[in-house]
Amino acid sequence: MHYDCKKNNHGLPHDPYKAIVAPRPIGWIGSKGIGGFQNLAPYSYFNAVADKPHFVMFSSVSIKDSVKNIEETGVFTFSLAVEKLFDGMNGSSAPAEYSVDEFNLTGLEYSQGKFVDAPYVKESPAALECKYWKTIDLPGSNRSEGTGTYVVFGEVIGVYIDDNYITDGLFDASKARPLVRLGYMNYGVVGKENTFTKNRPELDKNGNLKEVEEWDGIYR
Ligand SMILES: Cc1cc2nc3c(=O)[nH]c(=O)nc-3n(C[C@H](O)[C@H](O)[C@H](O)COP(=O)(O)O)c2cc1C
Repeated sequence: MHYDCKKNNHGLPHDPYKAIVAPRPIGWIGSKGIGGFQNLAPYSYFNAVADKPHFVMFSSVSIKDSVKNIEETGVFTFSLAVEKLFDGMNGSSAPAEYSVDEFNLTGLEYSQGKFVDAPYVKESPAALECKYWKTIDLPGSNRSEGTGTYVVFGEVIGVYIDDNYITDGLFDASKARPLVRLGYMNYGVVGKENTFTKNRPELDKNGNLKEVEEWDGIYR
């Protein structure tokens, strides 16, 4: 099948777009307003977009509390949402009033960032501390009406890792078991059972691809 995105004429019960662009990492965004209200919310339109320098982005359908806070204070955090924290992650997406602190609401503990004045999830195996760069208002957005989609970029200026998740010098993602967002109301978990290692490809002297080996520990 093909469908036209403007017409949305897929004939299916739900638009499959987000189920195709999956899995998506969950940006669990911690922020604080100038009035001091803490905020925590998951955003699966999230990703790391560069590592020289380290940059992340998330996108918000309408100006939600996270966007408001970040534009006010210029900082935010990302906490790694993992399997054992699913209920807290999901709970923190509830449509709560601006003044509601989702750490309180969900019973999650927080730590204050070391590099930025914003909270992150204490129980999370890793967190990123970010300095706001800019927001891109996607076409059709209208700030005065608060409609549209807003993509927020931040530079990662500090990283927290719970040392228990470092194994042989590597961040042990399969021990952390990150949650990923699939389509519809579906989620996945990254673990040993569904990950593998491979080296980058190399060409032989005739310019043909050599057989790719399991990762030998040399980062190429
Ligand atoms: C797993 C998950 C992913 C989500 N991803 C997004 C997203 O990418 N963009 C968005 O606008 N809302 C997303 N939401 C909904 C927000 O988390 C929700 O609207 C939340 O209340 C926003 O909080 P805030 O107003 O405190 O920023 C997501 C919810 C869940 C559970």
